[in-house]
Amino acid sequence: MKNHISSLVLASLEQLKTKADCAISDDIASKIRIDRTKDKAHGDFATNVAMILAKPLGKNPRELATLIVENLPQDDRISKTEIAGPGFINFFVNTSFAAKQLQDMLQDDRLNIAQVSQPQNIVVDYSAPNVAKEMAVHHIRSTVIGDAVVRVLEFLGHNVIRANHVGDWGTQFGMLIAYLEKCENESGSGMDLSDFEAFYREAKRCYDEDEAFAVKARSYVVRLQGGDQYCHDMWQKLVTMTMEQNQLIYDRLNVTLSQKDVMGESLYNDMLPQVVEDLMQKGIAVEDQGAIVVYLDEFKNKDGEKLGNIVRKSDGGYLYTTTDIACVKYRVDHFKANRLMYFIDSRQHQHLEAAWQIARLAGYLPEGVSIEHDAFGMMLGKDGKPFKTRTGGTVKLKDLLDEAEKRVSAMLDERGGIYTEDERKQVVHDIAIGAVKYADLSKNRLTDYIFDWEQMLAFEGNTAPYLQYAYSRIQAIFRKTEQQPGEIIIGTEQEEDLANKLLSFADAVNSVAAKAMPHLLCTYLYELSGTFMRFYESCPVLKAGVDEQTCRSRLALCALTSKVLKQGLGLLGINVMEKM
Ligand code: ARG
Repeated sequence: MKNHISSLVLASLEQLKTKADCAISDDIASKIRIDRTKDKAHGDFATNVAMILAKPLGKNPRELATLIVENLPQDDRISKTEIAGPGFINFFVNTSFAAKQLQDMLQDDRLNIAQVSQPQNIVVDYSAPNVAKEMAVHHIRSTVIGDAVVRVLEFLGHNVIRANHVGDWGTQFGMLIAYLEKCENESGSGMDLSDFEAFYREAKRCYDEDEAFAVKARSYVVRLQGGDQYCHDMWQKLVTMTMEQNQLIYDRLNVTLSQKDVMGESLYNDMLPQVVEDLMQKGIAVEDQGAIVVYLDEFKNKDGEKLGNIVRKSDGGYLYTTTDIACVKYRVDHFKANRLMYFIDSRQHQHLEAAWQIARLAGYLPEGVSIEHDAFGMMLGKDGKPFKTRTGGTVKLKDLLDEAEKRVSAMLDERGGIYTEDERKQVVHDIAIGAVKYADLSKNRLTDYIFDWEQMLAFEGNTAPYLQYAYSRIQAIFRKTEQQPGEIIIGTEQEEDLANKLLSFADAVNSVAAKAMPHLLCTYLYELSGTFMRFYESCPVLKAGVDEQTCRSRLALCALTSKVLKQGLGLLGINVMEKM
């Protein structure tokens, strides 16, 4: 509620700013303080902002307070405002309005979160692993963060197109095809094709050490690019094998990607010659020593010379950038996209900016279409260095999830058994996956984050287990009583705090959609749990002496809190459990 009132005051001040005699400075938002009143006779909240601002403006504080009040936006959550003393503004909260809204929320499957009136076509580029390679850490981040945002956008009613820009093209495929062929010929070689690390490494070793192999590999690249059936089939096998493996991971991670979302780099192959032709015709690209290059004003080296972006090499080959230019065109034309989102490692920022700028110049990216790099930082080990295995290799996602489950299983052993065999398996999975995902989701994606087992599995702090536990504790209340939730009446300060927090769920969800930042929802859920705990400690629900009306009202607040927790975690792709 404080935030809400503060935003009302800010809106009023913005209004005043437009008036001639009110030169209010721009950094005003930080100066607005909203306090709870000590005496209910003075309303529920108060601010001294008029007193702080009056002097620099050369105004009388009470006069300014009157102006602020007059310009407050109309708001149903406030029943009355008053000016008191030297220039305080007091706010009276309309608790019956809040109660009515909470009641509606509790009744509604969508918790009263409206669907957007104008759904957009939003293409979300996320996950994007590479064929015949283990998913690396930046793919995990992209997968988990992208999927949470996708869920939120869909929940709000947008038409979301999941675009898994799989790295399925490039000269390395000659070597991979040759090696796959070798493995197939020597079946029984014991080569485990599901171990991409080893597969790739061995292919590379053959390429480097065996001249005949290398010659063959190079010829396969040419044949593959020329559309040769055999090479295409072998290539397809590699793609399928990789994506089948990755699908197991997606399913295990409770990520909504499926095979139909694969739109790999190769999808754009046919467009590339035309795109380059078009860029040349429009005078955007020029020939430079046999290659086709675009020089952009925005990208200069330290001597002020424009940097070239090659779109076609002198040997006729195309590049990652060329594909991303074509990709923009495809997403705009084919999907009629209004918004293009890319969940990609921040290190690829310049690459994306260049590709998009070229697409803009070429007219592939119309004015009204928004395009955004929803970048994220690195995942670091506890030592602050990039997250690696002890021997310095990439950590396989599968191993990471196995370890998470092992740790959770041990934790549950310590706490004593409350589950059946089947329940236990599910719970271990839900806690482990929830913890790993939440650890990533709860941090501002723009910064690097430190992967820390103890922190993410703790039952205290801003973690998934803490929120899951908060949920299951509320479920336990309902197992202890026959009483049903009833009409909500907001009496105490803690009930009011909880009510206000519950009412800002929609804001949290909407901000994730607007900013592509799932941590905003995590922070909200964490704060909600804290607010709930404070309510629960000071407002007895089932204790003797609590009258039925109060009990049922509080049960309704409990029910709604658990509903919001479940929905909120659900939007992050995290499950809750009834018992914990
Ligand atoms: N496969 C790429 C990588 O592993 C990520 C692709 C991201 N998407 C894109 N449209 N470039 O880094």
